[in-house]
Amino acid sequence: MPRIEGYAIISRNGMIANADGSFPAALRIDADQRFFRAAVRRADATAHGRNSGLEELSRKRVVLTRRIASLDKHAASAESILWNPAGAAFADACKRLQLGPEDTIAVLGGTDVFGLFLDIGYDTFFLSCTEVDLPEGRPVFPGAGRPQEVLSRHGLALHARQSLDTEGQVVLETWRRA
Ligand SMILES: NC(=O)c1ccc[n+]([C@@H]2O[C@H](COP(=O)([O-])OP(=O)(O)OC[C@H]3O[C@@H](n4cnc5c(N)ncnc54)[C@H](OP(=O)(O)O)[C@@H]3O)[C@@H](O)[C@H]2O)c1
Repeated sequence: MPRIEGYAIISRNGMIANADGSFPAALRIDADQRFFRAAVRRADATAHGRNSGLEELSRKRVVLTRRIASLDKHAASAESILWNPAGAAFADACKRLQLGPEDTIAVLGGTDVFGLFLDIGYDTFFLSCTEVDLPEGRPVFPGAGRPQEVLSRHGLALHARQSLDTEGQVVLETWRRA
């Protein structure tokens, strides 16, 4: 299995998107975009739902969908696959893409995908924290509770906190498997 890294930018109350599923303009912060896009370029593969990928930056992709039974080819690229976790294990998806322990897969969301990988097990989760107000948004993880409490309940511990910009708009929290 590859190393599993999660990446999300959240509002003050832990939201990643507006209630209608659109990406909030206020969360598109240059310093975070630079950090995020560099990490996606570096990763050997990405895993994401239909509306959360960065196709142009990742060669190997695992695209989650309930429209197939288990695993299938992706029409857009020979190096990407469709995966329904209800019908195939993550290890099988990794085998299809020839991802081994020396590789890294970046998990890009959305909410259900971030939630699924809590149980598969993140090695690291990069949580970009902002003071943006999104009272009615969609949470980073399904259900209630602060994201930090959820990560901690799933065996991760806060390893580092650093500002990504001089204005202090984004504080990057790095959570690692304890
Ligand atoms: N702030 C952030 O860091 C951040 C991160 C990620 C996303 N976002 C934003 O959040 C919004 C995401 O929208 P979204 O809710 O549409 O999420 P999404 O995860 O991009 O797409 C949802 C689709 O993914 C598939 N899927 C998700 N979980 C699955 C599972 N457990 N098993 C099988 N298939 C699964 C399903 O596809 P099928 O319909 O094909 O079955 C589902 O309809 C976008 O605006 C995005 O930009 C923000």
